[in-house]
Amino acid sequence: MKAIIPVAGFGTRMLPASKSIPKEMITILDKPIIQYVIEEAYSAGIREVILVTHASKPAIENHFDVNFELEYQLEKKGKEDILSSVKSTCPPDLKISAVRQAKGYGLGHAILCAKEAANGKAVAVLLPDVLVNHYISKLDSTNLALMIRNFNQTGQGQVMVERVADKDVEKYGIADLSDANLKEGGRVRVSGFVEKPARKETPSNYAVVGRYVLPAEIWPILETTLPGAGGEIQLTDAIDTLLKNSPVDAFHISGKSHDCGNKEGYVSTFIEFALLDERFAQVSKRVLETIEL
Ligand code: G1P
Repeated sequence: MKAIIPVAGFGTRMLPASKSIPKEMITILDKPIIQYVIEEAYSAGIREVILVTHASKPAIENHFDVNFELEYQLEKKGKEDILSSVKSTCPPDLKISAVRQAKGYGLGHAILCAKEAANGKAVAVLLPDVLVNHYISKLDSTNLALMIRNFNQTGQGQVMVERVADKDVEKYGIADLSDANLKEGGRVRVSGFVEKPARKETPSNYAVVGRYVLPAEIWPILETTLPGAGGEIQLTDAIDTLLKNSPVDAFHISGKSHDCGNKEGYVSTFIEFALLDERFAQVSKRVLETIEL
């Protein structure tokens, strides 16, 4: 299965950091956000990624390409560790290609731009603002790998969800599902999706958190989906139409997602990743302990 990662957006919520570099290239520790997302896809067994990108964002493709000059210099200086970190941005058996979304008509439109590249087949979609912990420790598999397995076994679309606070439902696509106690790693059939509902009208607190496995039937639906919330063609609306004829499951994330597409989420993700990474845990703890507020 191929994966589509839409990266054409301007990243207005991360300005001024994203003024001249793509928001996906902003780093958490020593890696750009997009690298974590590509690594997640790779860990789930994906070997072909289609970036839906924009003319202003060649830095993303360059990051996953070979940089001969840099590699030559590092090799000459014997800097083996740095060299291997530079080489490992793209595993040799991972193919990354790019298509363009010239105008920002919304997420649904961005995905539709990759239809030919995806051969009109079933696809995984990963939104690059969201980081998901890689492994479900008990099952030693990734959330995305489980979603793909569920899809392969049932043919049913899989949409990752996570509970959010009441005040936050307006920021997300929300699933209408009857099971109020969906367990981590569990799934249940959804009866509808609504993009960014008002707090009073939300069908639940289960928010769509940026990982989807969609059947081939999504393509003709995307082609006819009209602009919805914010005047944009919404992927959520297309999935809501899809489930009228073919069942779609909400898959409950195991662990939690990190929204790096806004400043508060980015800062908290950075701190959490630093504290949990053995290379940076000590220094991070020391700063937290000694800082005077
Ligand atoms: C997009 C989707 C929304 C989803 C969210 C997850 O919204 O349209 O359904 O819940 O990503 O991050 P955006 O954040 O682009 O406004």
